[in-house]
Amino acid sequence: MKRRWFLASTVAVAVTTVGLTAACGGGQSVGDDAAAGGSVLTMATSADYPPYEFVETAGGTEEIVGFDVDIARHIATELGYELEINNIDFNGLIPALQAGRADFVMAGMTPTEERKQNVDFSSVYYDAKQTIVFPSGSGITGPADLGGKTVGVQLGSIQEELGKELAESTAGLELSPLNRINEIVQELKSGRIDAAIIEDTVAAGFLANNPDLESVVIPEEGPVGSAVAFPKDSELVADFDRILAEMESSGLMEELIVKWFGDGAE
Ligand code: ARG
Repeated sequence: MKRRWFLASTVAVAVTTVGLTAACGGGQSVGDDAAAGGSVLTMATSADYPPYEFVETAGGTEEIVGFDVDIARHIATELGYELEINNIDFNGLIPALQAGRADFVMAGMTPTEERKQNVDFSSVYYDAKQTIVFPSGSGITGPADLGGKTVGVQLGSIQEELGKELAESTAGLELSPLNRINEIVQELKSGRIDAAIIEDTVAAGFLANNPDLESVVIPEEGPVGSAVAFPKDSELVADFDRILAEMESSGLMEELIVKWFGDGAE
């Protein structure tokens, strides 16, 4: 009898442990025991940007996952914080930092001079290129072919900035700024816009799922890299930079790049 009770309670403990592990690993907050009940770092992101950040719905739960999320989890754990993730439109990310509603932003965000006036950035942890995405067969070979076309861009992104620049030198190019990348893809597929400017790594995923779309790289269009953004003068910048550098030298960053962007990624 006694022994049986012992077995039963062992099973109960095991089940509880598995339950807890699943809750931590699968939820949108992480933390080790040291951080439990301790301080929480709040990350804001725009989870419309696979493979950087997107909402994974497999398994009946909604979870924000991706390259940025793995990096953020690692850094938070290393610094002894729990991580909380808030999903908002890209255009609202910098205002969220300025209003103190987030400790940092990871959203494949490029550290532009303009943004640096309002927020601080970590070092760049990943680079990308700009591409034009369009329905197959529309014969677009580069920016010069965007004359007379409606071009989708994400509101508040460097793609919107590039679109504005191109519009100045391209007759009849009309910009259609949209909040979410998947809206842009939907508009493209339904023919309400003719093309979109999206970065190569993100476009690749949408192209793989939509064989009726194609893309072409826009040559030499300045940096499109990603960095972590913080409220001005945040003390976290140095901590994040230190751990990003460690991730580079330990090979962990390379591992995550291969995990999310595939073997061909630089
Ligand atoms: N790299 C571009 C920028 O900084 C686009 C980033 C969009 N990110 C997102 N999560 N939707 O403007």
